[in-house]
Amino acid sequence: MTIVSSYAQSALTFGLQIGSGYHGEVFRLIPGSKVIKLYRSEGEFLAPTSKEGLALRNAEQEHTIASDLFGNGISAPKSFGIYSIRLWRINHPWELVHPLHLTGWLRAYIPGKTIGNLSGEQRQRAEERKWVELQKAQDFGYNPPSDAWSSKNVILQPNGRIVLIDFLYWKKKVN
Ligand SMILES: Nc1ncnc2c1ncn2[C@@H]1O[C@H](COP(=O)(O)OP(=O)(O)O)[C@@H](O)[C@H]1O
Ligand SMILES: [Mg+2]
Repeated sequence: MTIVSSYAQSALTFGLQIGSGYHGEVFRLIPGSKVIKLYRSEGEFLAPTSKEGLALRNAEQEHTIASDLFGNGISAPKSFGIYSIRLWRINHPWELVHPLHLTGWLRAYIPGKTIGNLSGEQRQRAEERKWVELQKAQDFGYNPPSDAWSSKNVILQPNGRIVLIDFLYWKKKVN
């Protein structure tokens, strides 16, 4: 699928794809301070109505957890909520087909590198900071899943702070 253009209901402008993970694709919006994560399954983007609203549930889950962490001093991107966007695709280079209506999670763009792309002492220090942040989340009542400890899901900013970015399977601890 080739993405040619799209927009959100609030007239956000679509930018470049900056990341891809196991569950989603992340696009940076223009002017650049926000990203939107769209969810897919088996290679296909999830429309809001498909798979019983899985995209919506995913976006709600990530928005809720990231907001809770961010609001309580744990390093997560500021969350701007859930947005429905229209994503056009083309079959042939010149033929636009029907737009897909997709649901995604809008959050702050985090400059820097995922810590799996670092090496040496810088990587070591970032891994230690990741551990501290995840420990804080645990003390606050969360059970971060194994995915949360992955070096693909943590960004080291140029200012030295680390930011957790992926909250799909996070759960509160059961008392
Ligand atoms: N807020 C962000 N700022 C900058 N890059 C991001 C942001 N969110 C995600 N990315 C990039 O996109 C990739 C995939 O995002 P992620 O939320 O981990 O999706 P998935 O659930 O598919 O793993 C990340 O590994 C990272 O490189
Ligand atoms: Mg990820």
